[in-house]
Amino acid sequence: MPKSLPLALEMLSSDHRKVEDLFEQFEEMKEEEDASRIVIAQRICSELTIHAQVEEDLFYPWLRENMDDTELVAEAAVEHATAKQLIAEIMPVGEPDEEYDAKVKVLSEYIKHHVKEEENEIFPDVASEEEELDELGQEMFARKAELMAEMGMEDEMPARRERSRSDREARGS
Ligand SMILES: [Fe+2]
Ligand SMILES: [Fe+2]
Repeated sequence: MPKSLPLALEMLSSDHRKVEDLFEQFEEMKEEEDASRIVIAQRICSELTIHAQVEEDLFYPWLRENMDDTELVAEAAVEHATAKQLIAEIMPVGEPDEEYDAKVKVLSEYIKHHVKEEENEIFPDVASEEEELDELGQEMFARKAELMAEMGMEDEMPARRERSRSDREARGS
């Protein structure tokens, strides 16, 4: 049984799972009303924006100081920049059409790849720095709360409830 991750890595992993879940919900809702899909896509974009900001403000700088080989960090930072371009195209609310779905799909695949690199290549390399990463995790939580407040977001997933409501509507019950 692997022991639990230091706080910073635990927090980032749980963000990753949350966004994966939202992408899945978006995918499942393809047949349903567009309004709910837009809600999910918007939520994905804001979750990712905050997550990337916390990583760039605190986690990546820490990695640059603590990893021997920072090539992966440089690569991850470039991937953030590319993801942000896609997010900027998805963010404005419009009619969700084939192109909109395609952009969300490409973002989903892109993020999947990025998360795999973070969790499989970067995390194991630093996971033994438990004390520092617990401390860093506290700072990251505080920064995340700050950013969420700035964006007027609450730490919950309205998307899940939205979905079950529209599922019921779709089934006519
Ligand atoms: Fe990242
Ligand atoms: Fe991440």
